[in-house]
Amino acid sequence: MTESLFYKRAALYWANVPATVDGVLGGFGHISEIDLDGSRKFLDEILALKNPPDTKLALDCGAGIGRVTKHVLLPRFEKVDLVEQDEKFLTSAKDYIGEDYGKIESVYNCGLQNFKPQKTYDLIWCQWVSGHLKDYDLIDFLERCRISLNKRGMIIIKENIATSKELEYDEDDSSVTRPIELLEKLIQEAKLKTVKKDIQKGFPDDIYPVHTLALIGLE
Ligand SMILES: C[S@@+](CC[C@H](N)C(=O)[O-])C[C@H]1O[C@@H](n2cnc3c(N)ncnc32)[C@H](O)[C@@H]1O
Repeated sequence: MTESLFYKRAALYWANVPATVDGVLGGFGHISEIDLDGSRKFLDEILALKNPPDTKLALDCGAGIGRVTKHVLLPRFEKVDLVEQDEKFLTSAKDYIGEDYGKIESVYNCGLQNFKPQKTYDLIWCQWVSGHLKDYDLIDFLERCRISLNKRGMIIIKENIATSKELEYDEDDSSVTRPIELLEKLIQEAKLKTVKKDIQKGFPDDIYPVHTLALIGLE
């Protein structure tokens, strides 16, 4: 499949999804609370490290309606930026996030494959979106993120991981699910290294395992 078709199909899929928690989780709204609990615990452990990232500005990538921003990032960071390619989700984020929306500093309506950070960040959170990027675009995106990290800054990837060694393509939303070895190879190519990892507990057995990785720049 051509690159543009891969991205166009995904954009079309998300354009037809309602701006709700159940929508952005592909009908798995019921796992949102468990997911958010796991993310808060992971992030709190990061922030409790000896040399933790600052908590001034975070970036939520593929933010959807701001589910992670509202429940994980805003309670811990002074300001949060959002980048999301679906305009309707960003419009809905205002209502969904509610009174804390004043702590959203900038909103970028853009695909991550084209996104160039204009600021520096203490934390960059990428959840359930890396599979929407081609391998080479994911490497380039992660490199741009690495360059835009503040001192002690980190990138978090929380993602479905294939249980076989094969890359799996989902025709519905036009995304790929990578085996962990491939994701780790792309991370390395972006000159990042993993400093903490976890597998989300409490999810149903019939969905992909979800890994959370905390990354820092190698240079
Ligand atoms: C499974 S949802 C996850 C949303 C959010 N991260 C969360 O956990 O609630 C995937 C999100 O990625 C967005 N997305 C898909 N392809 C994208 C791309 N190439 N660049 C930026 N966002 C993208 C979709 O519009 C959707 O909001």
